[in-house]
Amino acid sequence: MFIHSPILGGKFTKVFGWNGILWMISYIISIEKNPPPAPPPGGGYILIGLANRQPPTDNSFLRYLCPMNGLQEKIEAYKKEIEAYSIQNAKDLEAYRIQFLGTKGIVKSLMAEMKDVPVAEKKAMGQLLNEFKNFAEEKYASAKELTEHQEVEGTGIDYSLPGQPMLTGSRHPISLMRQRIIQIFQRLGFSVADGPEIEDDWHNFTALNLPEDHPARDMQDTFYVQQQPAWLLRTHTSNVQIREMQKGKLPIRMIMPGRVYRNETISARSHCFFHQVEGLYIDEQVSFADLKQTLYFFVRELFGQHVKVRFRPSYFPFTEPSAEMDVSCMLCDSKGCSVCKKTGWLEILGCGMVHPNVLENCGIDSNKYTGFAFGMGIERPTMLKYGIKDIRLFSENDLRFLKQFTGAY
Ligand code: PHE
Repeated sequence: MFIHSPILGGKFTKVFGWNGILWMISYIISIEKNPPPAPPPGGGYILIGLANRQPPTDNSFLRYLCPMNGLQEKIEAYKKEIEAYSIQNAKDLEAYRIQFLGTKGIVKSLMAEMKDVPVAEKKAMGQLLNEFKNFAEEKYASAKELTEHQEVEGTGIDYSLPGQPMLTGSRHPISLMRQRIIQIFQRLGFSVADGPEIEDDWHNFTALNLPEDHPARDMQDTFYVQQQPAWLLRTHTSNVQIREMQKGKLPIRMIMPGRVYRNETISARSHCFFHQVEGLYIDEQVSFADLKQTLYFFVRELFGQHVKVRFRPSYFPFTEPSAEMDVSCMLCDSKGCSVCKKTGWLEILGCGMVHPNVLENCGIDSNKYTGFAFGMGIERPTMLKYGIKDIRLFSENDLRFLKQFTGAY
């Protein structure tokens, strides 16, 4: 004899002989005290006996014994289905998840059927259903583990493996310094201009008051383009001055950063290419005082408020008067060190008032307009700021060097 009863732990239980009859009586007494509601129409009945019967129409005790809506059988059947369910890959896994655990899945729908279970059976059935749910979830979890470490079908690639770390790049120290210089001058109202690195002789020399055979050309040992001797690699950024002035738009307040080339022996201190920033300010009544104050402001912003400057008279064919500007050595606090060669000063740029010939070469009336220009290397201040001892490091692309600037500004 089989009986399904909460008293017997909510399970189908086999009972025999007198013992079984005693159980039945105690069960009947318990449900008399707390009668379950009538089963839903068409609901199944598990009976004492060997088989299901149709729902009773009378008030016989059978009706009270085991009213069921087939939930238990469904659970048993689904359990078998889950056991047999084969999950081979991520696709199967997802199908399984949708079928059993999804919002419209079997677990959810069985849960919804709980409302039809009689009160007396609720607890036991709830427990059964919970166990079923855990069973379904465990199968999902273990299958997931397995399929995750499988290659994606046919691709030979296991997408679950950890990826190759992405190297974060860093700005090149020359770019960092170039950007700092630009930012300072932009605050003074200077805009940025650009020009060609392969230049003709006129823009690089002649227009800058350096006619052919001028001895000052020797100061800048030049690379010429073999196939086209009229072309050369610009020796300074001053060519951009000329190109901007030729445009005829005044006033001009510009800085022009860029790469320049000179035929110099490569060593720790010099290279055959390097970087400059050119500055040009042209308007009516621009004076040497403007030049000094502009550059003084600039170096204090770049090196700190305590920096001192000095101007030494110098010579450039394109400026008159000309000067070289030094800053007090920030490495030894002007006491004298190997970098400043014991002088306490570091030379950082050349400057001067734009020569009237240069203005006239570009079609600017030199009686009405005056201006100043300056040119500085970027490598030197970069080496000072970051303590770089060899200029060649800038162009060797050694990651051990470049990586040190990750996060630098
Ligand atoms: N062009 C000069 C050089 O490369 C620097 C400079 C520019 C000097 C502008 C004065 C004015 O040496």
